[in-house]
Amino acid sequence: MFTVRLEASDRPALLAHLLALGNEDRRLRFGFVARDSSIKRYVQDMDFDRDAVFGVHSTGGEGRQFDGITHLALTKQQAEIGVSVLEHARGQGIGTALVSRAAVHARNLGIDMLYMQCLSENGAIMRIARALGMTVVTTGRDSQATLAFPGERALRVPQMRVADPIALCDAALCDTPSASAQTQSPQPLAGHAGATQNTV
Ligand SMILES: CC(C)(COP(=O)(O)OP(=O)(O)OC[C@H]1O[C@@H](n2cnc3c(N)ncnc32)[C@H](O)[C@@H]1OP(=O)(O)O)[C@@H](O)C(=O)NCCC(=O)NCCS
Repeated sequence: MFTVRLEASDRPALLAHLLALGNEDRRLRFGFVARDSSIKRYVQDMDFDRDAVFGVHSTGGEGRQFDGITHLALTKQQAEIGVSVLEHARGQGIGTALVSRAAVHARNLGIDMLYMQCLSENGAIMRIARALGMTVVTTGRDSQATLAFPGERALRVPQMRVADPIALCDAALCDTPSASAQTQSPQPLAGHAGATQNTV
């Protein structure tokens, strides 16, 4: 499965992918049912130089169309992943491939901590997180999956191995505010409303 890195010129394809998500998927992806206008703003504000966005192309689609997208939002020492796969393309490993790709990218940048904010009910993303060796800590409605790789050597994508048994949970990450508003915009880092707000 090939993942490609998106550029600023891919903004329309990224937007089309996110707008194709139904309400339930938007809730799982962002932590609330993001409106079209909020998603447009989220895409418009995305910094393709600082962050990394990877996608898996739609099979049979014309031009740049993506069945799966992951947004790796970066700070100096932390990275947060948000991911989505269109319904018709699920269950083929695309979500796992994208999260793996983002994890390798973060690790190669020397990032110490990778995390993923999700709703506790989200069985698919929990499964992906655990399969990749992430530690999942549940605090009620929200869960945080973390993977720490301080001082690790860079990996090359074909040899990726992100299931290191060194994952730790930063207690601070477990103390994030719960997000419930239906009208708010996608929040910092990779857009999930439960994310800590230390950038963007
Ligand atoms: C989460 C999501 C990205 C998964 O994409 P995907 O391409 O189907 O993922 P994969 O095919 O790589 O793997 C999914 C795994 O979850 C499992 N799974 C699927 N639905 C599940 C469920 N309801 N409960 C538990 N496990 C489930 C699959 O069996 C698979 O596990 P396996 O590889 O051991 O068989 C996709 O469902 C999605 O976009 N959901 C909406 C947005 C979202 O939830 N984003 C995550 C929050 S940032």
